[in-house]
Amino acid sequence: MMMRFAISVLLAVASGAAAMAAPPPGAASCSGCHAVRDNASPAIPSIGGRAADETFAAMVAFRDGTRPATVMNRIAKGFSDDELRAIAAWVATQK
Ligand code: HEC
Repeated sequence: MMMRFAISVLLAVASGAAAMAAPPPGAASCSGCHAVRDNASPAIPSIGGRAADETFAAMVAFRDGTRPATVMNRIAKGFSDDELRAIAAWVATQK
């Protein structure tokens, strides 16, 4: 159920990504759930403008399973360190 939701969000965002201002690979998917500029869902924390170090550390903790999560653990597993650094740096510039 949650996974189907996640996949449909990822697909919906991926298809719209080409029209946007070139975020790094994978970064456009984040704003399907998180507020990056507008408030996508009040139940999910806004991440736009957050320090890149903080976002990167959170993603690594989700990926390693050291930070409990419902969906971020699964999403984070799809990215390498370099990709997560690029995404975190991009998220930090979005406000
Ligand atoms: C399917 C919806 C969804 C997508 C897509 C998604 N997130 Fe999340 N995110 C969540 C949820 C829900 C949480 C709360 C933790 C949990 O339950 O997984 C969260 C938590 C976080 C947190 C911790 C926020 C805090 O205030 O502690 C960060 C950082 C984060 N996500 C970054 C990202 C990044 C970067 C991406 C893109 C690669 C992304 N998320 C994509 C739903 C999503």
